Amino acid sequence: MTHATSHALSCAFEQILARHCGCEEPLSEAVPARLADGVKKIADIYTGGGEPCTAFKDPALRTAYAAYYLPCNAIKLFPILAELERCRPLLGRGGRLRVLDLGCGPGTLIVGLLDFCLQQCRQAPLAFDITAIDRDSGNCRSARELIQSYCAAAPGAPSVASLHILTGDVHGLAMPGSAAGFDLILAGNLINELEAGRIADCARRIAALLKPDGMLVLLEPGTLPSFKSLLLFRDELPRHAMRLLAPCMQPGTCPLRHSPDAWCHEKLFWSPPGLVRLIDERTGFSKHKGVKFSYLVASRNAPPAGAGAGADHWRVVSYVIRNKGEERLYVCNGRERRLLRRLVRIRSQASADFSDAGRGDTVIVSGAEPRTDFFDIGSDAVFRKIS
Ligand SMILES: C[S@@+](CC[C@H](N)C(=O)[O-])C[C@H]1O[C@@H](n2cnc3c(N)ncnc32)[C@H](O)[C@@H]1O
Repeated sequence: MTHATSHALSCAFEQILARHCGCEEPLSEAVPARLADGVKKIADIYTGGGEPCTAFKDPALRTAYAAYYLPCNAIKLFPILAELERCRPLLGRGGRLRVLDLGCGPGTLIVGLLDFCLQQCRQAPLAFDITAIDRDSGNCRSARELIQSYCAAAPGAPSVASLHILTGDVHGLAMPGSAAGFDLILAGNLINELEAGRIADCARRIAALLKPDGMLVLLEPGTLPSFKSLLLFRDELPRHAMRLLAPCMQPGTCPLRHSPDAWCHEKLFWSPPGLVRLIDERTGFSKHKGVKFSYLVASRNAPPAGAGAGADHWRVVSYVIRNKGEERLYVCNGRERRLLRRLVRIRSQASADFSDAGRGDTVIVSGAEPRTDFFDIGSDAVFRKIS
């Protein structure tokens, strides 16, 4: 996944969402001010330890969520799906796919998925059978309206052959005996809302719902507490014969498992919709500059350890830290995290990618020399981006 490319939702998505939120042009000053007020209240609920479900009980807050957090979360799917499509095409194969979205909110990840396909999977005709579930009936209504509006108004949108939006609890998920399972299961910003003691149960239910070659994508806010929740889920994967595909390149214990202050997260730079900018201007928030998130992609039939990404495959997990005469960055493969250093006087083409590497890039690293507290990328070492 590279985050250097700027991702954007389609113009159709922006227009449909604006209409859905009652923000059609010409926009009076009162509309962004009202939405900004709602966004601040939602942020206060989430950061102040309030009960998250209160954010969705009030229709005004639900609209503010859809105008602001929905596009900020939907776009996070893009680099993840783009990397998946390069390595293990699912959407690009075309055909009919069964998709399940858990904790769907106002339809965030389903519309994100449709918009990704609209923009990037035009070569093979796709049809989706969609099931989405949320415990909040207002969110379910809103999700249905948005998905239907998107399908009706976005020219070239993939076809939605069936749409089932269910009000219910993910802890009640069960696979009917005869059902075939899902090709793709999504859950956005859900795991951190579950009680820690119930995450294992959720993992078990999800694994039972996935087709043998199905894919699971979990997205979480890029915060330390939500990363810890994601780790609890990650621990459950081997119990259900599920294997990590990303961001980790190798199975093993996460090196940040016990870290009190570092956590694995990405920052995606994007072209935000106008409404997000207007709300940022009024709240002082900065989602227009980039959105943080943690994520996990797993599959039932990923290659076994060692047969997938080579031992020299790593993911960049920091910015390039520039000091006098040298640059440093962290890479991780899922079980080991390394600090790499490259002196700026090194001119070798084999490691020329070092200077402009970005969080999320996958890279091949070989020949790095171990030093006391870092690995040195000398003139003979290789540091090459593969995405
Ligand atoms: C932060 S919102 C995320 C919405 C959407 N997935 C997104 O990424 O924008 C979390 C959603 O999960 C739902 N949720 C939380 N716990 C749930 C549970 N146990 N069962 C079903 N839905 C749940 C909430 O109602 C809410 O809509």
